[in-house]
Amino acid sequence: MPAPTLSQRALSLQESAIRKLDLTVALHPNVRWYRVNIGQPDVPTPRPLLDAVHNWDVNVVAYGPASGLPAVREAAARYHSRWSPGLEARHVAVTQGGSEALLFAFTALCDPGDEVLVPEPYYTNYNGFASVVGARVRPIATRLEDGFALPTDEVLDQHLTDKTRAIVFSNPGNPTGAVYGPETLARVLAWAERHGIFVIADEVYRRIWFDEAPTSALEFEQYRDQVICIDSLSKTYSACGSRIGFLISRNEQLMEKIERLGQARLGAQPLAQQMALSALALPESYYEEVRGIYRRRVDALMNALSELPGVKAPRPTGAFYAMLDLPVDDSEAFARWMVESFRHEGESVVVAPGPGFYASNDKGRTQVRVAAVLREADLRRAVELLGLGLEAYPGRLR
Ligand SMILES: Cc1ncc(COP(=O)(O)O)c(C=O)c1O
Repeated sequence: MPAPTLSQRALSLQESAIRKLDLTVALHPNVRWYRVNIGQPDVPTPRPLLDAVHNWDVNVVAYGPASGLPAVREAAARYHSRWSPGLEARHVAVTQGGSEALLFAFTALCDPGDEVLVPEPYYTNYNGFASVVGARVRPIATRLEDGFALPTDEVLDQHLTDKTRAIVFSNPGNPTGAVYGPETLARVLAWAERHGIFVIADEVYRRIWFDEAPTSALEFEQYRDQVICIDSLSKTYSACGSRIGFLISRNEQLMEKIERLGQARLGAQPLAQQMALSALALPESYYEEVRGIYRRRVDALMNALSELPGVKAPRPTGAFYAMLDLPVDDSEAFARWMVESFRHEGESVVVAPGPGFYASNDKGRTQVRVAAVLREADLRRAVELLGLGLEAYPGRLR
């Protein structure tokens, strides 16, 4: 009897770089792990979000509308109107995390064989969303030495084909920590309009920046048909498990199709949408507090890293990740060696290997990503462990 076979799409799905080492970590529950490999902050979720869950009082846990509860859509539109005036509830769809918003965007824009441009290194899961819809990520190199600046128009032109449907980037950047301002956004949007392609601006870290606020793609109302913005409760409110995100666009035809995609999965969870209502009602001072927390953490992380010989660590200007260049020639082997073999006083550190943030495995081989998701003292200890590990590593280069 022939064995049942899976689709090529399923077979081509990459294993997440971030999750790769988790299996080994799980085998050693007696080690104290400093997990700076994932974007799961230990910051307490604000009380009003938890109260919203406790106070939810219904007789029937019913389905909600496909594009989200009207009150949540209105609240999200009002919130984004603080810097992108004129947004209305109909421009917002509530999704199951920013992840589903991205998946919906890729689904709505791409047919099999289409291409999506992505400045590299990039958030690994873009590969997954592209694979699911049969599209291909076409990476465009950016460099650690230039602070991962977005490529020039000439470089973008070189990567454009008749299959290109969109350019997607996160601003602030995961894993780069780069923040794109008004000139960069204006340039890329104008370029996208000239070529009739969409811009998917993944702004899930928008509230976390250290020098200048990132510019939202939604601020450019003239590109109403081009722009799709992705937002989420996960990082801003330390509510990763709420699984609530937003897809926001003024493109009416697109929003109609997003509503249909939403209908196919019958709506995002109404209980978690209560958290969204509380989150979106928080005062501006809340966001200043969050920025302060991550600024102190990133400072602690960078100060500690500056003490490590042979490690290059550009300071992130947003989000809470830093891409490091290490004196090793295979950061995957090094990260694995750390979790399998390196212990200091019963403790060790988990970092995310660089190649997972590139389209091909031969790039980012000297890099790792670390996330400032722990308290300052824990981050300092994590960097100390990284330094001790590098000293002890048999494959160290210099
Ligand atoms: C750049 C970026 N976009 C989207 C997401 C997905 O977030 P969510 O938890 O809202 O699905 C993440 C999560 O780490 C991310 O880093």
